[in-house]
Amino acid sequence: MTAADAARDLFVAAHDRRPDGIWSAPGRVNLIGEHTDYNEGFVLPFAIQHRTYAAVALTGTDEIRVRSTFAEGEVKAHISDLDGFFPTPAGQVPAVPEWSAYVLGVAWALRMRAGDPSTGSGAQGLSSTAQDPDGATRFRGVDIAIASDVPVGAGLSSSAAIEGAVASALNDLWELGLDPVTLAQIGRRAENEAVGAPTGIMDQMSSMLGQPDAATFIDCRSLQTRSIPTGFHDAGLEVLVIDTQVKHAHATGGYGERRASCELGAKLLGIRSLRDASVADLPRAAEVMDEVTFRRVRHIVTENQRVLDTVEALTQRGPRAIGDLLVASHVSMRDDFEISSVELDVAVDTALANSAVGARMTGGGFGGAAIALVAHADLQRVSDAVIAAFAQAGFATPHLFTVEPSEGPRRDA
Ligand code: GLA
Repeated sequence: MTAADAARDLFVAAHDRRPDGIWSAPGRVNLIGEHTDYNEGFVLPFAIQHRTYAAVALTGTDEIRVRSTFAEGEVKAHISDLDGFFPTPAGQVPAVPEWSAYVLGVAWALRMRAGDPSTGSGAQGLSSTAQDPDGATRFRGVDIAIASDVPVGAGLSSSAAIEGAVASALNDLWELGLDPVTLAQIGRRAENEAVGAPTGIMDQMSSMLGQPDAATFIDCRSLQTRSIPTGFHDAGLEVLVIDTQVKHAHATGGYGERRASCELGAKLLGIRSLRDASVADLPRAAEVMDEVTFRRVRHIVTENQRVLDTVEALTQRGPRAIGDLLVASHVSMRDDFEISSVELDVAVDTALANSAVGARMTGGGFGGAAIALVAHADLQRVSDAVIAAFAQAGFATPHLFTVEPSEGPRRDA
């Protein structure tokens, strides 16, 4: 059964009627540019063919009721109560079950953004559409059923896919008319303030702006984007995902610590964010900060440059020219930023030893997945070698599959 069918079936079984529609949004892999997004830097992700589907219908009540195939039961909330739940105070768990905070958080963030008159929050740019002509709120009750084929916890942005699918559905059903970049900002707000994960905006931008055959170059300061054709298909290359099955979570631990190190590094350099430092500033950085903070800074500064170099290589010389940049990115994450894991290192090293063009861990790190750029003819050989190396090292069997640059959100039914 497809995930779209699973969302529809879940909806019909729970509510004994058909949804008004089904909306979906993709997960992503990041080709290069890791932890640069919250430093206002550059990233080059692409949306993948794995998607999250939301079957949704207006109900005529003032309640949002959410179900999902990956959790038991239903979570419901009056729309006016969302302001009491969110934002989630720093360091605390959400007032609703975490899986539902992605969904309810999007509804909350949309309502704040669009200025529901009943919140007293004031209209932020959408005052003319926040109310129907008769004065009734547009933020009407909905039933939502979620299903997904984006692997969860693998660093493939299953959360941004949920946020994108729900934001797209509510944008349509509530007739808000928000553009994709604004919806990406809504998704990030839900992730940061409702779920409580201090992430950047890459995942939501990548999901909302996905295009077939192209990666999305994003300037995370201006939020300007450029579509960069990858040329993988024409060059006979595949992007192999090696999901180590080691789950990661960004609401806790290392992710926030890395972010704090970057903020400290920027402060010590007297700049707004590490975006404003270049490779030429590194000798000075080494003098004004401790050794660990310096290595965190060096990763970000060199990674920003690698993203720019990758864009140039892809557009000027083609996809085979990016292999060394991918490898340099991995080494920098392993040694300087220290977010890799033994499983990710084995995945990358084994792929490279078996003629991958390039390989690196992708996403936030501390588990999750690596990607390898592999000639189609070498796919089986690389896959077999990785599985054998994991078995030999005593790791859990990895999950291997190829991904293709794919389209952003859409209405499926
Ligand atoms: C996670 C976050 C993103 C980004 C990456 C690391 O995926 O959600 O915002 O910071 O980690 O590049």
